[in-house]
This record gives sequence, structure tokens and C-alpha cells, in this order.
Amino acid sequence: MLKITNLKVNYQKQAIVKGVSLALDRGEMVILMGPNGSGKSTLANALMGHPHYAVKSGRIELDGQDITQAEPEEKVKQGLFLAWQNPMAVAGVSLTKLVRELNLFKNDVVSVVKSLRQYAKKMNFSDSLLLRGLNDGFSGGERKKLEMLQAIFLAKKYVLFDEIDTGLDVDALKAIAKEINLLKRKNLGCLVITHYHRLIKLLDFDKVMVMRQGKIVKTGGRALAEKIENHGYTSI
Ligand SMILES: Nc1ncnc2c1ncn2[C@@H]1O[C@H](COP(=O)(O)OP(=O)(O)O)[C@@H](O)[C@H]1O
Ligand SMILES: [Mg+2]
Repeated sequence: MLKITNLKVNYQKQAIVKGVSLALDRGEMVILMGPNGSGKSTLANALMGHPHYAVKSGRIELDGQDITQAEPEEKVKQGLFLAWQNPMAVAGVSLTKLVRELNLFKNDVVSVVKSLRQYAKKMNFSDSLLLRGLNDGFSGGERKKLEMLQAIFLAKKYVLFDEIDTGLDVDALKAIAKEINLLKRKNLGCLVITHYHRLIKLLDFDKVMVMRQGKIVKTGGRALAEKIENHGYTSI
């Protein structure tokens, strides 16, 4: 279980996340919604250990181990992965190179590359982009597809998707929703941050949580997501 207890996070000395508790089991999918600026990305970044986001108090546990102050690379090794809202470009490091270098597979390189190509094809993602530097000159939608591919290959236990749906066309959205559902079926815990019902309605999720002004203010199911879609955050 990924267990977050009363987490408080500052960005540049300002309190943004003001005491969030939530638990995510392996094989569970939780949707995190909330108005712009409510602190969703700050929470995701703090969970991953981004140095700009200071955890002031509270606790993050991964399968019983305290990882609150662990370095991001340690968290990755423990099985946590974050697909960024705004992924950075890393010239010179292609996905193929990254997956190979991380040496996460006992398989030979040829079969890893073959598998990468198969997933890329499912997402209508050109092979040439697998060889270009990460996000280097990528469109918004291509960046999101690349985040999804990384999640498929690098997330081992828990995966956080921060607005994976922005910039995607309808077909890509369907392909990505399918892959998220598959990760759940492979027993990964998935936290999906999104505003959009067009993604939510395709997902096989277990619950919806709503964050506002740094706190979780509501938990529910599909009906809650539909209410927000139809009547806005002010209606709940
Ligand atoms: N990297 C950043 N630069 C500037 N402001 C930030 C940054 N990260 C968070 N903040 C501030 O923290 C608040 C919450 O932002 P964020 O976590 O991105 O919200 P959400 O993802 O819910 O839209 C906002 O007021 C935002 O201005
Ligand atoms: Mg955000």
C-alpha cells in the first residue's frame, strides 16, 4: 500500500498541501480531481521527492517502509513512478536508451526494443520518436504518450498520472485509458489526476477524491465525477 498520512507540503515557503491523507492499494485505481491550483501537482511532485517541494510534516509509506525523505531514485527503485503534467525535454537520452540503461529487464536488449515498438504502435507513436531525445521537439500529445510508455516500462508497484490526458486526440485518449486499465489489472496501484470526464468514463477506477485548497474535501464514486462534470466543483 502507498500510504500518505497528514502530508503538508510547501512551495517556496507557501503552504500548498495542507494535510492530505490517502491510501492506494496495489491493483486499485483512485481518481484525484480538483480545481486549478488546488495542489494536485504539488502533492504528486512531493510524493516523488521533487526538491522544489518541501514536505513539512506527515508521512509517506510504501509497503510499510517510510519513504517520506527518500531520494527520488530510491523511490523509483521501490516501485513508484510519476508521469509528469509538464514533462521536461532531455536531449540525447532516448526512451530506448533509458529503458536499456536502467537495465530493468532480464530480457535481452533486442526483445526489449521489440516490445517498446509494439507498445508505441498501439499508441500510434512513431518509432523514430523512440530514438529521439526524451520530449525533444515533441508535441504536447507526443509528450503524454511518451510518459505513458515510460510508465508501462518503468513503474513497478505504484504509478501517479498527472493530467496524462492533456493534448491527446480521441484515439490516443482511448489507447491511453486502455493502458492505464491494464496497469491496474497487472496489480499496480494507480493515482490518476485529471479534470476530464472524457478520460474518467473510460477508466476502471475504484474511487474519486476531490482536492480543494490543499485538502481532500470529498470522496465518492462515478456519481461524484458525473456531478462535477455537469455542475462544476462548486456543486459538491
Ligand atoms: N513550480 C511552481 N511554480 C509556481 N507556483 C507553483 C509551482 N508549483 C506549485 N505552485 C503553486 O501552488 C499552487 C498549487 O499548484 P498545483 O499544485 O500546480 O495545483 P493543481 O495541480 O491542482 O492545479 C498554485 O497556487 C501554484 O501557483
Ligand atoms: Mg496540476
